[in-house]
Amino acid sequence: MRVLGFETSCDETGLGLYDTHLGLMGHTLFSQIPIHAEFGGVVPELASRDHVRRLAPLLRTLLEESGAELSSIDAIAYTRGPGLMGALLVGAAFARSLAFSLDVPALGIHHLEAHLLAPMLEAKAPKFPFIALLVSGGHTQFFLVNGLGEYQLLGESLDDAAGEAFDKTARMLGLPYPGGRELAELAEEGYAYSYDFPRPMIDRSGVDMSFSGLKTAALTVIRKANIEDRATRANIAAAFQQAVVDTLVSKALRAMEETGVTRLVVAGGVSANALLRMQLHDEVTRLRGELFFPRNEFCTDNGAMVAYSGWLRMVAGEEDGLSFNPKARWPMSGLEKPASKAV
Ligand code: KG4
Ligand code: ZN
Repeated sequence: MRVLGFETSCDETGLGLYDTHLGLMGHTLFSQIPIHAEFGGVVPELASRDHVRRLAPLLRTLLEESGAELSSIDAIAYTRGPGLMGALLVGAAFARSLAFSLDVPALGIHHLEAHLLAPMLEAKAPKFPFIALLVSGGHTQFFLVNGLGEYQLLGESLDDAAGEAFDKTARMLGLPYPGGRELAELAEEGYAYSYDFPRPMIDRSGVDMSFSGLKTAALTVIRKANIEDRATRANIAAAFQQAVVDTLVSKALRAMEETGVTRLVVAGGVSANALLRMQLHDEVTRLRGELFFPRNEFCTDNGAMVAYSGWLRMVAGEEDGLSFNPKARWPMSGLEKPASKAV
């Protein structure tokens, strides 16, 4: 089965093509970051309009680059939610119409499930069960994953997502939107222990987290510091990043300890963070566990992960009818395992 996937939940238009025998045949992406940068955040109306502009040309490029004919596509997957309603509608309408014209089935995919399964696209793919840390701009959650659609929430951030805290702190430091990657780059020049930022909830039992206090602590420091000075900015960035990473790592170890599962999968935009990867690698190796990440380009939003999740569910027999129903909000707990166990 060959599945074409579309991702349009936010500010990235991503397409991917996944084939049972050939694996990932190709993927294309257009990031709208420069469009939204001058506004300091995603402007939903501009996002929807740009998805409209990009989808057809990106599809043509994907087919050319992967050497596939449109007629060879057996099924179409698209992100159904959660995300920006207008952006989701554009992708769903395009994908559903294309499926109708090709007379193939279509399926709406959960964006977070797609992130969580993205590490399975790598040569070294995790086997079930595993602990998943989903850490992005909108979510910071730990799941025990027993199989496709079998996700038990172990704990989550009770306020800001880690990526959101990165982005807001980056903005306070005058870094360009979205900021997480830029803050991490600046942090490389700084000293991580020059400021004593809190590690929120680290001493509490369980794996719930909180990042808004850390963000406020950063604001208090930034207000008093001379942030015109690059070295000062770099020190604040390094100390902030260290506090987020220490928190995520300590909670990840606790999630592994509490469940007895030593396979850890980390996905979502913040999983691209080099310090997080390094610290987790050291700790998980020490515990003789196994650690899995998506490749860097599949940490943030992309179409490959949607094509792959669509493939997993559609080979198991799932498909939607002709109508489509995007969901701006959609908790992972609303997901189920596929009815047939063909995978
Ligand atoms: O998964 P994603 O592309 O979109 C959401 O679904 O949220 O994640 C984007 C988030 C942003 O907050 C971005 O700043 C953050 O991931 N991010 C990073 C890094 N690269 C992206 N945060 C820290 N370090 C990075 N290297
Ligand atoms: Zn995402």
